[in-house]
Amino acid sequence: MRIIFINLIIACLLCSCNNQTTVEVNNLRCELIHHPVGIDHLAPRLSWELASQERSVLQKSYHILVASSLEKLNADEGDLWDSKRISSDASVFVSYQGKPLQSRTECYWKVRVTTNKGESRWSQPARWSMGLLTPEEWQAEWIGLDKTYEWEDPTADHTRMGARYFRKEFETPQHPVKATLYLCGLGLYKLHINGEVIGDQELSPTPTDYRKEVKYNTFDVTKNLQQGSNAVGVVLGNGRFFHMRKSIPYLHMGKVIPFQYPKMIFRLELEYADGSRQAITSDNNWKVTADGPIRANNEYDGEEYDARKETPGWDKPGFDDGKWLAAEQVSPPEGKLSAQLNLNIKVMDVLRPSGIKELKKGTFILDMGQNLVGWVRMKVKGEKGDQVQLRFAEFLNEDGTINQENLRGAQATDKYILKGEGEEIWEPCFTSHGFRFVEITGYPGIPATGDFEGRVVYDEMEQTGSFETSNSLVNQIYKNAYWSIRGNYRGIPTDCPQRAERMGWTGDRAIGSYGESFIFNNNNLYAKWVNDIRITQRESGSVSDIAPSYWSSYTDNMTWPGTYLTVSNMLYEQYGNKEPIVKYYDSMKKWLYYMRDKYMTPDHMMPKDEYGDWCTPPENPAFNDPQNPSLITDKTLIGTSYYFYMLRLLEKFAYILDKPEDAKEFEEQSVVVKEAYNARFLSKEAGYYSNNTVTANLLSLSFGLVPEEYKKAVFENIANRTLGEFKGHVSSGIIGCQWLMRGLTDNGRPDIAYQMLLKTGYPSFGYMIGKGATTIWEHWNGDGMAKWIDSQNHVMQLGDLVIWFYEDLAGIKNTPGSYGFKKITMKPQVIDGLDSAKGSYHSVHGKIKSSWKKMGSSFHWEITVPCNTTATVYIPASGKNKVTENGKSASSTKGVKFIKMDGVYAVFEVGSGNYNFLTNE
Ligand code: BGC
Repeated sequence: MRIIFINLIIACLLCSCNNQTTVEVNNLRCELIHHPVGIDHLAPRLSWELASQERSVLQKSYHILVASSLEKLNADEGDLWDSKRISSDASVFVSYQGKPLQSRTECYWKVRVTTNKGESRWSQPARWSMGLLTPEEWQAEWIGLDKTYEWEDPTADHTRMGARYFRKEFETPQHPVKATLYLCGLGLYKLHINGEVIGDQELSPTPTDYRKEVKYNTFDVTKNLQQGSNAVGVVLGNGRFFHMRKSIPYLHMGKVIPFQYPKMIFRLELEYADGSRQAITSDNNWKVTADGPIRANNEYDGEEYDARKETPGWDKPGFDDGKWLAAEQVSPPEGKLSAQLNLNIKVMDVLRPSGIKELKKGTFILDMGQNLVGWVRMKVKGEKGDQVQLRFAEFLNEDGTINQENLRGAQATDKYILKGEGEEIWEPCFTSHGFRFVEITGYPGIPATGDFEGRVVYDEMEQTGSFETSNSLVNQIYKNAYWSIRGNYRGIPTDCPQRAERMGWTGDRAIGSYGESFIFNNNNLYAKWVNDIRITQRESGSVSDIAPSYWSSYTDNMTWPGTYLTVSNMLYEQYGNKEPIVKYYDSMKKWLYYMRDKYMTPDHMMPKDEYGDWCTPPENPAFNDPQNPSLITDKTLIGTSYYFYMLRLLEKFAYILDKPEDAKEFEEQSVVVKEAYNARFLSKEAGYYSNNTVTANLLSLSFGLVPEEYKKAVFENIANRTLGEFKGHVSSGIIGCQWLMRGLTDNGRPDIAYQMLLKTGYPSFGYMIGKGATTIWEHWNGDGMAKWIDSQNHVMQLGDLVIWFYEDLAGIKNTPGSYGFKKITMKPQVIDGLDSAKGSYHSVHGKIKSSWKKMGSSFHWEITVPCNTTATVYIPASGKNKVTENGKSASSTKGVKFIKMDGVYAVFEVGSGNYNFLTNE
């Protein structure tokens, strides 16, 4: 205590300020979620941010208290954990190290820190709670209804099944002081208590491989219960538990993994003021019916709702359920029941339609003005039995009718039958659509735009980034990217949200996940997904191309399963989340050695590659794929270069885990592969790889495969071929594009990257936009052949573009070797023709801002660097004396340190704070 006191005084003297208010601690997060409830992580990781008006604030120590009640915490009693003062600058993912956490424990916590500028007060309290840590504690049965009704056909290829409605009444002697509800309802559930829907989650729980894992959600429902009679209702939809299709007609290598009829497990725990407890659990005393209003539900095909079948009061006490059946006790799902740590899906945005027109009598086309993912909420008034049909599509035919051909059999059709009782408002529960247009038929009267609203549905996550430039095309591309990214989160990152697919194709996100992490805090989702990838691993070591493995596709290649490593690396670098590397290292190594042992040739080539440089733009937009061999990148080159890259990633992971011997082993292998690769693919005289595709040269450069003396020539070949033959357009598929914008920039030609971005002819993003795209297409020629079969909402063509926007245009980058933006590199590329750019990114350490503008020959730049971080700032200037900060010479400003000149930049080191730089050339 004394020591702390002395230190405090020293801190205070040093900065001569009131140390109690200099630094605040806020934004407390457990597992990077703001209010996690019912988690089952035994050493949850705590994070916080510092805020201060002072510059150059660095944390010196932290002190965490975790208490089992708010009263104890307020009395500064950390009965669960009192970390005492720990000398450390860590403020992200600090593991709980207190008493072992038990099921149901409420954990209230706070933190205070000392810094070089003084000590903070205690933060405001934050909270997390523990769920049920063992299956035995549920003391509940899995219940369901393993039979069908005459209107249901579970055996058809497009399964038609209605929702299952479960209910249970119970008495409470008093109003409980605490009521906690645990529920796993598969495939999807809606929860009701006493006539109200509980929570705003949609399409929950999160999708998993139900053979291996099933997830439960936890709710505090204290306020929803009443003394006396209560009723709980659970509606189960099919989701992905009762498969949407029996077979995949167009995919030769995959097969659908069948699951089962919907089922649920439920436990409600009540605590009373006198200390007594009561539990309401699922068993065969519950009642069930499938004869409710949701007559059919299928994620691909849509939902059918007959409001005449509504039974008002079914979720309230006193309802006559005499005609309902007894719920069946059914076998539990194979997967282990555990708490869901990623947040659920929600309605995240609401969009008003931009127009509606009558195509022919009774057929209306609603235009949302934007390709979005979710559904439509409708207002309607009519006669009992009137039937409104909504069909969803991404584009229209020339005659104005909707086109659903590219949905590959997904019917994407919702039906609503009116009960005829005045204004009726409806939206579906257990489906979602990717669409811009809706064909409306059967609507009584004339529908107006005001009768509809687009519900934009995806995983709840904080939006962490913003980005804007002086160029409107660049801004539109960013906007399209934003809509595609958020449209493709569905508890997993999907390939596309509209057709009968919507799978977690790994390769699509290998690097895109990193770009996305600037816009959204997607840590929890991707941490969940790398676990999904791990779960696909077979005994042999083989990893699937799709996670969860709803379609069984084990083609053994480097680029798709390699996402296991690239996403784990992203989580570490962008968020400081080391857990996937710690937990899955052995499994990743097993995968790579499986590939090596099974497929590596004696001359150290990795010939296994399934997809090539997928979706390389064909020379003619009328073609499906490129025909000219000079456009096609060699598959063995792709396989081997990626094998090398994976070795380097594992080497890095081995160092992180303090396994120097492993690291050495990977390094030695990579040396051998590099030599063999160059012997096989490098044309020394011409200075290019294989057949000189941009992708072949780019992968070689980006992975560090090119011997020093050839780097210049190899890059010149990229530049020459791009500017010459391709006239500045993209020529790579999704593999090459993952390295393209950064590759051009890091090798000194950001201008080529920028020019490529400004193209409006085929192939380019501008071309898509010119054709009306409001999202990113699956194919560069998505208006040609591909239009009839392919998606208009895929993220994979983005490659590394979003990374480039944030890191190279806004100039916000985690310094290599650091994690979670503890060290920041701020280096905007100053490109002819681009007058300004501004971006902000809320990192785990706090918000980073950058806003620059060219003013004649001067450069004006305002930046914000969060507390407990430092930034290396690259200011375009011909000398340090040309730079001012807030009107004064930058190099003599306190907290701004000149480091060196580097090309066109004067490089400074700064601590946290706001800075206003201006150059005077
Ligand atoms: C998906 C892609 C995926 C690919 C792999 C497609 O059907 O939409 O995004 O990566 O298959 O072959």
